[in-house]
Amino acid sequence: MPKSNSEFDRSKLLVGSVIGEMNKRVYLKSRPGVNGEPTDDNFCVEDCETPSADTLQDGEALVKTLYLSVDPAFRCCLNEDTGAEYLTPLQIGNTVHWLGIGVVTASKDKELDQGDFVTSNFDWPWMKVFVKAANQLKKLPKDGVQERPSLALSALGVTGLTAYLGIKVKGHVSPAANQTMVISAAAGSTGSLAGQIARAEGCKCVVGICGSDEKCAYLTSQLGFDAAINYKTEDVSSRLRETCPRGIDVYFDNVGGDISDKVIQQMNQDSHVILCGQIAVYNKDVPYPPPIPASTQETLAQRNITRDRFLVLNYSDQFDDALQTLAGMLQQGKLQVRETVMEGVENAGKAFVSMMKGGNIGKQVVKVADM
Ligand SMILES: NC(=O)c1ccc[n+]([C@@H]2O[C@H](COP(=O)([O-])OP(=O)(O)OC[C@H]3O[C@@H](n4cnc5c(N)ncnc54)[C@H](OP(=O)(O)O)[C@@H]3O)[C@@H](O)[C@H]2O)c1
Repeated sequence: MPKSNSEFDRSKLLVGSVIGEMNKRVYLKSRPGVNGEPTDDNFCVEDCETPSADTLQDGEALVKTLYLSVDPAFRCCLNEDTGAEYLTPLQIGNTVHWLGIGVVTASKDKELDQGDFVTSNFDWPWMKVFVKAANQLKKLPKDGVQERPSLALSALGVTGLTAYLGIKVKGHVSPAANQTMVISAAAGSTGSLAGQIARAEGCKCVVGICGSDEKCAYLTSQLGFDAAINYKTEDVSSRLRETCPRGIDVYFDNVGGDISDKVIQQMNQDSHVILCGQIAVYNKDVPYPPPIPASTQETLAQRNITRDRFLVLNYSDQFDDALQTLAGMLQQGKLQVRETVMEGVENAGKAFVSMMKGGNIGKQVVKVADM
């Protein structure tokens, strides 16, 4: 395979002194196709040179990956055209890049010191060690992250922001309104946080929909959901009627498709859909958001239900405040964060494929190294 990724090429130049164990990188071997399910075979791992601190240039940092994040939106990057203006397609043979957190092991930049925790914007390479321009890295405050770095990929990262800002911006939750919120993909990273935030914001009844009995039990026994519905084994419509007797006021939609059509049929007049994600169609060649059936469209119109697209990146001006709130909730024990951890950079592709099929409870991460 050609080794044309910039980080990898750079590492090849930095042979200087190769220390310790061999570096590894994961590259894209093949695409699943716009209508295909991703498989482990789409990814390949190989040894590569370990970059050395001696050869860092001014403005560069040497970074050790601690954790990688795998997320549904990454699926778009496996297509030749991502269909999303903020995401670029991965190229065959190039090192995969997405979101991660790591620690600076050497730096020739005045803003970064050895021991700093850093993350980056969708361009974190699936490598154990790499060199990057310091201005492409974001230094994280040590509080909260030092003890548990992976939190920067969940509650204190994109999915925490998505759950919190999705509810704040599109949910219209008011403690006085005695509201019921339903959440799909409720045992996943965003959904499990959204349920807890909904409760903290004042929803009286919180119901989750997810894909296994183990997940349902987690939601009701650990996270305080009032009820949980296993969409694979239960009749979603009749269980919604039982568990949401006053109808549904807010729907945090992570999945779309048939599940969402059934939820929307039981939504109240002037209620709100938080259109967060549509994972049910991510392996299909449809635009985003995908078309919905005429009957669902009619219900939305007749009941004056809002359903505007929510994209967390559009609210970056609110990130700092939201992160402070989320950190406070964590400290006060109001937010529990569970992770499903796969070990080893070489298993990052496998972790992504597993998460897309529901193999995770809470946030799916890949642990690459200890601090
Ligand atoms: N709008 C934004 O800015 C934004 C930002 C981040 C994430 N998101 C969206 O939020 C959603 C959740 O993302 P996440 O990172 O927190 O992932 P996640 O929920 O931790 O993992 C994905 C979950 O989706 C469920 N799933 C997969 N295929 C499904 C299907 N056909 N029907 C129903 N459920 C299915 C699986 O759980 P089950 O076992 O329950 O099936 C799986 O565990 C995604 O749609 C994602 O695109 C949006």
